[in-house]
Amino acid sequence: MIFTAGVITISDRASAGIYEDKSGKVLVDLLKDFDFEVKKYEIISDDFDKIKEKLIKYSDEEISLILTSGGTGFAQRDITPEASLAVFDKRCPGISEAIRNQSAKITPMAYLSRAEAGIRNKSLIINFPGSPKACRENFEIIKSFLIHGLETIAGIDRH
Ligand code: MTE
Repeated sequence: MIFTAGVITISDRASAGIYEDKSGKVLVDLLKDFDFEVKKYEIISDDFDKIKEKLIKYSDEEISLILTSGGTGFAQRDITPEASLAVFDKRCPGISEAIRNQSAKITPMAYLSRAEAGIRNKSLIINFPGSPKACRENFEIIKSFLIHGLETIAGIDRH
């Protein structure tokens, strides 16, 4: 089964064109290389309602996997986890635990990411930190369990 994906870069500066969004492009490339059909890729500011609106829109369209990049840290405007929690039907704490624990082997700064993961409708939503390096590392971590999780959400039983 080919799964669909959407990428949302959440950054005031990238959305204002102050710098180029590299992390979102990295995620789009990684997803395509992993055989996802990338249906959406957008850059938005760190705005609670905008983030919620996009997550709701993508999951209403039943995009299988929604990856967000950025806004998970301690800066005043970082509210990606809170906006994500506001739309989840179910939290998936194991995914964010895996990401933090595995990432901490690379850098202890991983513990400064407050990223969340959860399910809304038939979509799996996962927050990634905003650096392209962190996005690559996080994607590598989720690869081992991602497809099984998406199949389960889609009602495909392989047992
Ligand atoms: N996770 C991995 N795997 N690799 C990294 O380089 N950087 C950390 C962390 N998670 C990092 C990582 C840093 S420096 C920060 S500040 C937090 O993610 C939050 O990043 P964000 O505010 O861009 O979301």
